[in-house]
Parts: sequence; C-alpha cells; structure tokens
Amino acid sequence: MESRKRMTLHRLRQMYAAGDKIAMLTCYDATFAHVLDAAGVDVLLVGDSLGMVLQGQASTLSVSMDQMTYHTECVARGNRTAWIIADMPFGSYQESAEQALRNAVRLMQAGAHMVKIEGGGWTAPVIRFLVERGIPACAHLGFTPQSVHALGGHRVQGRDEAAAGLLREQAAQLVEAGAAMLVLEMVPAGLARELTQALSIPVIGIGAGAGCSGQVLVLHDMLGITRGAMPRFVRNFLDGRTSVESALGAYVADVKAGRFPEDALHGF
Ligand code: KIV
Repeated sequence: MESRKRMTLHRLRQMYAAGDKIAMLTCYDATFAHVLDAAGVDVLLVGDSLGMVLQGQASTLSVSMDQMTYHTECVARGNRTAWIIADMPFGSYQESAEQALRNAVRLMQAGAHMVKIEGGGWTAPVIRFLVERGIPACAHLGFTPQSVHALGGHRVQGRDEAAAGLLREQAAQLVEAGAAMLVLEMVPAGLARELTQALSIPVIGIGAGAGCSGQVLVLHDMLGITRGAMPRFVRNFLDGRTSVESALGAYVADVKAGRFPEDALHGF
C-alpha cells in the first residue's frame, strides 16, 4: 500500500460516481490507524463506540469531547492516507449550531477530515452551519446509538411505512443541507438500497444490507474480540485467518467485491 494516494473528499466522490464500494472501519489509536491504512481501508471512523469498545461503558452517552479529541489525535498520528471521520459525541452539538462549530473545530484541529452527527430533522441546520464554514459533515440515520434510550434499545429503524417515510424525508434534508456522506445503521436492506439509489452522496451501511455505497463495522467486532453476543450484521473476519492484517485485507476485498455484507445473512 506504499503507493496509495491520500484519500480526499474529491476521491471519495469519484469512487462513489464510479460505483466503487467504500470500505470503512472504526479506529481509535495510532497503531491500528497505521495497520488499517496499510490494509487499504478507505475511511477510518473515530467512533464514539470507543465508550463501549475501549472504556467498557454500556453506551456511547458518557463519551466526552476531550476523549474524542485525544483519540482523533492518536488516529491522525498513525494514519498516512485514509480519510478520517470523527464522531461528535453526545452533548457536543445538541445545544446550538455555534456549540457544534466550536466542538467540530476541535476535532478538525485534532486531525479529523470530517465530523459525524447523529439524527435527522433538527440536525440539518447544524450540518448546513458547519458545511458553510468549511467543515465536511457526515450524517447518521437509522439506529443512532446516542438515542438508544429514546429508541427503546438496539432496534431496527424504518420498518413501517411511516418510519420509512420519515427516514426518506430526513435523508433528503441532510443532503440538501450539505452532508457529504450518510451512515445508515440497522435499516431494512430494501429501504437502504432505495435510499442509496435516491441520494446523491455515498451511503455507508452498518446492518443496512448490501445495497449501500460502502460498509462500516466496529473494528473489534469484525476481529471477533468483542465480548458478548454479536449483532447479525457482523462477520468475524479473523475466523480462519492467522493475522489481523489478513482479516483486514479480507474485509476490504469483500466489501469492494460486494461479498460483504450478504442480505440473507446480515440484512434485516
Ligand atoms: O461510533 C461508531 O462506531 C459508529 C458506527 C457504529 C457507525 O458510529
């Protein structure tokens, strides 16, 4: 991977336009950033899932701006070419667009190339405010972990027609506001495929079936080292392989070839 060119928003858009699948994984530290980048992962997501994965918390709710800034700095130091997205943690953007800007600036100064914000409707003006000020933004719809209690647990979203209609409406508003990417989590595969075809930006799925423009998984889940039961949309890529590098290489190859995920096995 020595010759890999630095990933930019322009190149991500070119991949999207060409129908090339985008491989994304969560990443929280410099060593894994180096290994994921070398394996050809296009996008590293400094996810607030670090609350569960690294800190052993039950949810993402307690993750702070200081923690997200620290982990974004670590990932940026280890990375060479991948695009880095940093999650805006719970409480860092809900107050006002100005609060979101202040905190997004911290993440960009820590080395992020883009920030991710959960939710739809009220988030569209926040995303517009950031994008107009030069901060690329990724939206996140479907199951949004920061709203786990409001959503009644880890549940598939958009199953009935009313909920699907709301998702369509919110996704269109976020694109109109300037979101350059959308993460769709735990959404029926048919609806995710329809949204991906309707929207003009890359849609990255997690538990959203094979019809998205790319895929993301939590790193520790796809390496099979997370404790407890795995959601059905996860595949253990280390199973049957002898190194982390080969597992990561298989993930990138399978996402790009459309071999992962499989709707029948991993979709809802
Ligand atoms: O924090 C995270 O890891 C995420 C992914 C689940 C998309 O937002």
